[in-house]
Amino acid sequence: MPLLRNILVTGGAGFIGQNFVHHLLSQPDAPRIVVLDALTYAANPCSLEPLIQSGRIEFIKGDITDLAALEALFAAQGFDSVAHLAAESHVDRSILGPDAFIQTNVVGTYNLLKCALADWNRRKILDTARFLHVSTDEVFGDLTPQEPAFVENSPYKPSSPYSASKAGGDHLVRAFIRTYGLPGLITNCSNNYGPYQHPEKLIPLMIIHALQGKPMPIYGDGLNVRDWLFVGDHCHALLEVLRRGQVGQTYNVGGGAERTNRDVVSEICRIIDARFASDVAMGSRFPASPAAKGKSSASLITPVSDRPGHDRRYAINGGFLKQALGVEPREDFQSGLRKTVNWYMENPAWWQRALSGDFGLWMERNYGSREAAAKP
Ligand code: NAD
Ligand code: TYD
Repeated sequence: MPLLRNILVTGGAGFIGQNFVHHLLSQPDAPRIVVLDALTYAANPCSLEPLIQSGRIEFIKGDITDLAALEALFAAQGFDSVAHLAAESHVDRSILGPDAFIQTNVVGTYNLLKCALADWNRRKILDTARFLHVSTDEVFGDLTPQEPAFVENSPYKPSSPYSASKAGGDHLVRAFIRTYGLPGLITNCSNNYGPYQHPEKLIPLMIIHALQGKPMPIYGDGLNVRDWLFVGDHCHALLEVLRRGQVGQTYNVGGGAERTNRDVVSEICRIIDARFASDVAMGSRFPASPAAKGKSSASLITPVSDRPGHDRRYAINGGFLKQALGVEPREDFQSGLRKTVNWYMENPAWWQRALSGDFGLWMERNYGSREAAAKP
């Protein structure tokens, strides 16, 4: 049985990491939690600030590519578990600048594996310690519309520098498990959505642009399919795998909600339009939104040129996780999306903080030439 009393959460200031920390703290037997995060552009940890101030978690700003700092951290903290979520996570950024992805997702993961193994060997706790490596379904490449969903032993066939670097990390974890007896587990999940997701990703970007009256850019024909997993369901699955998963095993975590990008964006527009129609206060809060003037948000949808190497379809078969641990998604996509849209409507201060800094430069870099290319 794992101890799970003193956990290191890497990347705990990011989207899934923050949600995972809250999920851990909601447990009656919550462990001591140390968050290690480099606070890259992707971090926006407002929700952790009260937890840090009240001493419910400890926060350490640090980079997993810094081996010496990691060694000192493990020596000082006595961790019995690691949930490894720190990563460079955005496919478009990996296309325009892959170096950081190799450093964090491959080298950083390798550093963590080395430190955890050495520390747990020294303390002779390999039987009760756990290393959970959080990965993605993108390592399996993409599917045609007819192919069956990914299973745990689907071949690795990554398409982007992001997914290739995540695949590299997964291979290292598996090698440490088999060669050195590291008590590791791997999860490969589908696209997450929910509160605290950075505005660079599809769902938050579309919500925020609809509220700001800005173009909603859909790549290519918009018929690429993703399987959407509500972040709360993902966090539940991660904790159950940590608690009850079999060491050495991979678990696929799916949302059971395959949708084309067009369908997702249309649904976001419908939810926003309906909220503005039923709540007059929304118009004064987001006056630039078409919905504030009684128009459909869908008028902002703008097809732009495609992402290079764009994966056509991802789908996860979550049957093994359900059979082995009884874990399956509980949130239905319609209600999960409504909760997510409502969260972004209620928390503009959070996403305005994420839009400050260099985000405008990123938008120009990623979308500037796309928009030009899409014009007739
Ligand atoms: P995110 O980009 O929102 O957050 C990543 C966090 O890692 C940020 O807080 C960032 O500051 C931190 N970080 C980055 N480089 C670091 C470094 N070198 N050292 C320490 N911290 C560093 O990512 P997310 O969406 O929360 O994803 C978390 C994990 O889940 C990642 O491993 C990702 O590959 C995986 N995943 C995400 C999704 C998804 O849909 N979001 C889907 C499948 C898998
Ligand atoms: P994204 O949220 O970047 O996740 P991933 O690429 O890891 O699946 O994108 C989800 C889908 O939405 C993907 O098919 C790319 C597409 N997309 C757009 O059409 N427009 C956008 O502006 C973004 C960010 C993504």
